[in-house]
This record gives sequence, C-alpha cells and structure tokens, in this order.
Amino acid sequence: KQALNIVKMKKMKADGIPLTMITAYDYPSARLAEEAGIDIILVGDSLGNVVLGYDTTLPVTLDDMVYHTRSVVRGAHNTFIVADMPFMTYHGSIDESLRGVRRLMQEGRAHAVKVEGGVEICETVKQIVSAGVPVLGHIGLTPQSVNTIGGYRIQGKDPADAQRLMDEAKALEAAGAFAVVLELVTEEVAEAISRAISIPTIGIGAGRYTDGQVLVYHDVLRYASPYREKRFVKTYADIGTQIREGITQYVQEVKQRAFPDESHIFKADETVLESLYGT
Ligand code: KIV
Ligand code: NA
Repeated sequence: KQALNIVKMKKMKADGIPLTMITAYDYPSARLAEEAGIDIILVGDSLGNVVLGYDTTLPVTLDDMVYHTRSVVRGAHNTFIVADMPFMTYHGSIDESLRGVRRLMQEGRAHAVKVEGGVEICETVKQIVSAGVPVLGHIGLTPQSVNTIGGYRIQGKDPADAQRLMDEAKALEAAGAFAVVLELVTEEVAEAISRAISIPTIGIGAGRYTDGQVLVYHDVLRYASPYREKRFVKTYADIGTQIREGITQYVQEVKQRAFPDESHIFKADETVLESLYGT
C-alpha cells in the first residue's frame, strides 16, 4: 500500500471517492488503522480526552503531540498522517507557529498539520503552506474554542452562521488548505460547502454529503471513551468490554492459581534440582 498524498485526495473528491480518516494516538492504534486500509490518520488533540483523561483538549501540549505523533508514525509507515496543532500554539507570532509546525513535522514526522479556525487564521495557514507543509483546516464546532462557543453544539443553524461557515471554508481554500474538517454542522450546510469548494471536506457529525468522514478511534471501537453516546458516531466494535472481560478473567485465574498452568512454564534440568535440594 502506498500512502495517499494531497494531490490524490483532491482527485478523489473530483471522482466522488469518499476519503476515510480516523484518529490514532500510538503505535498499535496506528498499525491497526493502516492494516484496515484507512486513507488518513489524524493524531488528534482529542488524545487529551480519550488517552490522557482531560475533559477538554485545552491542556494538550506540543510535547504531547510530538510524542504521540512519533509513535503513530512508527506504526503506519504507508499512511498519510496529520497532526493537530494544540491550543494556543498558532495564534501568536508566525515564528512561534512555525516552530510548532517544525516540531510536528521534524520530530513528530507528520505529513501535515491541522489547525482550528476560519478567516482569522488564514494568514498563518498561508505561511505554513508556503513553508512546504500541507494544512488541514477545521471549522464548525472547534473544541479548542469551547469556552467562547459555550459548549459542544451544532453549528450553521441560522442563516448568518451558515454563511459564516461558507465564508470560512472558502477563505481556507484560498489560503491553501488541502482539505477542511467540518465538525457538528447541519447536513445541508455541509453539503453546500462541499459543493462550493474544490478541496475535500471531511465531516464529523456533518451528515452524508461531505467528501470524507472522520471519527475518533475510541468512539468507533467503544474503547472506554469518556464521552456519552453521540448521535453522529457509529460504533463498529466493543473492545472496551472485551478488554475488561479479558483482564477480569486474568485476575480470577491468578487468584485461583489456574494461570499459569503446565503449558506456560519452563522446566529445570535434574542437575539443577540436585543442586537446589541435594540428594
Ligand atoms: O482531535 C480530533 O480528534 C479532531 C477530529 C474530531 C476532527 O480534531
Ligand atoms: Na482536534
């Protein structure tokens, strides 16, 4: 399998072939996602929620992102990997933003970065792209702005809000973004945006007509995600239950001395026995 690139992604949009993206945060999750044939892996700052146990993505640092990105890359050498720029690392000077991008690309070894926001970050997007780094946009519900948005709610519900989202998507395209994530957007607005721009849209809770879909690994697999059930998620496996049951059984068998049994042990020679106990 050959890794996808941003030129092929645009062609896939033109050809009507959906893009598949899932998050991953470490070697095994990346490896399994690649083996399953995913198009793009996102090392999302959702790792703050599902891996690190925070209640928002705000505490996630650049160090966290670099560490997890490196682990993901080691597990998926043939997959296009995007790393999230964490909260407050791309709203200061261009120099500071580029330093963060450099770390994700050079130390983390990602192929692209993702930034949340619209028109206000387009100048930064341009600078990152001109440094040779593909940028994935992210509009709609942008979790790093949860405190100014006032909660995790559906975006694009009134005409002004829908128009704002449309303008943001077009501005990101003009700034050179290779694709845009649409999070928690009404289906009709997401469809209109997908038709209006030539770069792919990748939806999460944005309905059926985006050019691709993205979901969080722990949600897809019901891997002890701290989130409540979400309407826009479909779970395809229940590994949380499997893991808990497996560990429960291990604990029981050790307590009952049923594990280890004869098949798991290493036998010493007679001579060792003699030296231990004498004869
Ligand atoms: O961090 C993340 O998982 C994301 C996706 C939800 C798009 O940004
Ligand atoms: Na994110």
